[in-house]
Amino acid sequence: MRVLGIETSCDETGIAIYDTEQGLLSHALYSQVKLHADYGGVVPELASRDHVRKTLPLIRKALADANLTAADIDGVAYTAGPGLIGALLVGATIGRSLAFGWNVPAVGVHHMEGHLLAPMLEEKQPEFPFIALLVSGGHTQLVQVDGIGEYILLGESVDDAAGEAFDKTAKLLGLDYPGGPRLAAMADKGVADRFVFPRPMTDKPGLNFSFSGLKTAAAQAIAKNGKDAQTQADIARAFQDAVVDTLIIKCQRALKQTGLNRLVVAGGVSANVRLRAMLEETMHKRGGEVFYPRSEFCTDNGAMIAFAGAQRLVAQQTADLEVKVRPRWPLTELAPL
Ligand code: KG4
Ligand code: ZN
Repeated sequence: MRVLGIETSCDETGIAIYDTEQGLLSHALYSQVKLHADYGGVVPELASRDHVRKTLPLIRKALADANLTAADIDGVAYTAGPGLIGALLVGATIGRSLAFGWNVPAVGVHHMEGHLLAPMLEEKQPEFPFIALLVSGGHTQLVQVDGIGEYILLGESVDDAAGEAFDKTAKLLGLDYPGGPRLAAMADKGVADRFVFPRPMTDKPGLNFSFSGLKTAAAQAIAKNGKDAQTQADIARAFQDAVVDTLIIKCQRALKQTGLNRLVVAGGVSANVRLRAMLEETMHKRGGEVFYPRSEFCTDNGAMIAFAGAQRLVAQQTADLEVKVRPRWPLTELAPL
């Protein structure tokens, strides 16, 4: 089955074609980063309008890149939530309409299920069950994954998501939106342990996270210690080390609690090189395995939506003709495959 995937939940238009026998045939991405940079964050209405401009041209490109025409598509998958309502509606309306016009089934995909399954686009794939650490701009969650659609939420952030904390701290350091990757680059030049920030909620049992205090710790360090480039890099380093350490402590706790030793890490922050290196080391030490998507599929993309949608379409879980999106949509409400 050949599935067209459409991702428009936030500030990236992602399109891909996934074939259940041949794998990923093509993918195309347009990032709106430049459009939102002047505002220091995503402006929802601008995001929706840009998705209107970019979605169909990118679909044409993805088809051409794969040497296919519309007649070769057997199903359409679009992100139906969670995300910005206007942005979601653009992808969902286009996806649902194309499927109707082409007389093929359609399915609305949960964005975080897309992230969670993205490692399955790689050669090294996790077997069920496993623990997933989902770290994006909007979510930080630890999930026990027993199968597709079989998700037990073990813990989540009580305030800022990890990516959000990266972005807000980057802003304090004078970095442009989206600051996460920029802060990470800055941290590479920082000296370890000149500043040491707390590892929030690691002294108490439980698997929830809280990252908003780290932003405050960084703000205080910036205010107190001046703003020369080296000090800023040292603060970026302290922030990144605190986030990475905290995530690793909680992952180990989740693995211990469930008796599992396979870990999947996905979502934008899983592109963080330091996080990947530290997780690799940690999982190696405990004789376990860690899986993540290739870097370009850590952040939002169409490939993960085409893949997740294909699994559901093959299982004949299809959407009716109504265009339905859910800006808020708990992962645990999904049906098993
Ligand atoms: O998954 P994603 O593309 O969008 C959401 O679903 O939210 O995640 C975007 C988030 C942003 O907060 C961005 O700053 C962060 O992922 N991010 C990073 C890195 N690359 C992206 N954070 C830290 N280090 C990175 N290398
Ligand atoms: Zn995402």
